[in-house]
Amino acid sequence: MSEQVTERSDMWSNSFIFVLAAAGSAVGLGNIWKFPYIAGENGGGAFVLVYLICIAIIGIPVMVSEIMLGKLGRASPIQALLNLSRKHNRSTKWSIVGYMGVLTGFLILSFYAVVAGWVCYYILRLFTGEFSGADAGSVGEAFNTFLSDPWQVLLWFSIFMVITIFFVARGVTRGLELCVRYSMPAVFVLLLILIGYGIHAGGFVESAVFLFNPDFSALTREGVLIALGHAFFTLSLGMGAIMAYGAYVPQDVSVGTTTFTIAILDTVLALLAGLAIFAIVFANSLAPDAGPGLLFVTVPVAFGNLPGGTFFGGLFFLLVALAALTSAISISEPAIAYFSERNKISRAKIAVVIGVVCWVLGVGSVLSFNVWADVKLAFFDWTFFDSLDKITQLVLLPLGGLLIALIVGHVLPKQVVFEELGLVSPQIQRAWWIIVGFITPLAVFCVFIIEALGEITAHM
Ligand code: TRP
Repeated sequence: MSEQVTERSDMWSNSFIFVLAAAGSAVGLGNIWKFPYIAGENGGGAFVLVYLICIAIIGIPVMVSEIMLGKLGRASPIQALLNLSRKHNRSTKWSIVGYMGVLTGFLILSFYAVVAGWVCYYILRLFTGEFSGADAGSVGEAFNTFLSDPWQVLLWFSIFMVITIFFVARGVTRGLELCVRYSMPAVFVLLLILIGYGIHAGGFVESAVFLFNPDFSALTREGVLIALGHAFFTLSLGMGAIMAYGAYVPQDVSVGTTTFTIAILDTVLALLAGLAIFAIVFANSLAPDAGPGLLFVTVPVAFGNLPGGTFFGGLFFLLVALAALTSAISISEPAIAYFSERNKISRAKIAVVIGVVCWVLGVGSVLSFNVWADVKLAFFDWTFFDSLDKITQLVLLPLGGLLIALIVGHVLPKQVVFEELGLVSPQIQRAWWIIVGFITPLAVFCVFIIEALGEITAHM
């Protein structure tokens, strides 16, 4: 054990690198690709409001809990939970959360890398000036043509997977700092440029109204569950990714401050991406509910009509690909950490095995947009891609988060938690305990129950 601790604690050489790594994990396709399209599909404002509430009362407490569990357990999520339950004489069954996380990681990475592959292809397409002066119709058509070719999609998915595994195999920190430190502010600036396009083209006001003026009649029951699941997805919570990173955190890091920084950064980026994309949607009379292709049919139109758009458009997709890479690396971390702890096999070999498993699963997602487009999961009408996306986001991540909150709220001795978080005032201790022990788990539980009851009555 002690050997692992030293090996691990020197991974983030200081707390700033930890914040960068966690932010790199959080900011990714969830912010720039997923948030805008699910907000569009679920009617905008009311959905966004529910998402923000979920970040505040569920996401933040769960992130604090995950980092803390990693820091206390100093091992992979599975082993950390085993260590903690043994140390405090609790049931080791709670480590199931860790196993669930490893499984969830495989599922998420497999489809995440497929979408990241689309992004990689778009770097090339924009840099070659393919979309300069293009109108919305032809950009949309080009995207559909791309998706309908399984070989093409497979190629780009494979390229992204190989790059990810390369970095995973080399260990976490190298290159990550560079990526996050420069590419995140750059994404920020490019999103502002896109918003500028929206203001110029006349879609900005409509975009702001769409995202921030809640129309509750547009919100469905499923929309609430999607918002909840997305709060987990976008902050990388519910499967131990942040917990695994937390295992390498220097002792002096303030978990609370770190969490707030990451949550605010992540949310601001998602909202900016939403504002920019819907400005383009409305300026070009596109449909806000275009689905997973939304990013790929809006952003090229805007850059295609901006001066210097060939360069900045290519740069935009390059930065999104880097953001996806720093996220993808973190998705594999619970599995990598677990398998390298147990076996004396090198990190590189484990990374390759994980890569192969995810690649095989990913082929299903590649085919979901062409050859298998009509193969649907009975009852739900989901393609293979939809099924992985929904099962992880709507079930596995919230369930993982719920269990994590219960562990911190009810399984670990309170004193241990208070001490680790540096909570001294009894009022603050109490407030924290009520939030993590009751409000957070109950909120997740209620959304689950309401959704389940709704589904059952709808099918009766
Ligand atoms: N949060 C990342 C994004 O928004 C994706 C991600 C990274 C993730 N690690 C995760 C999602 C762990 C769920 C769980 O793109």
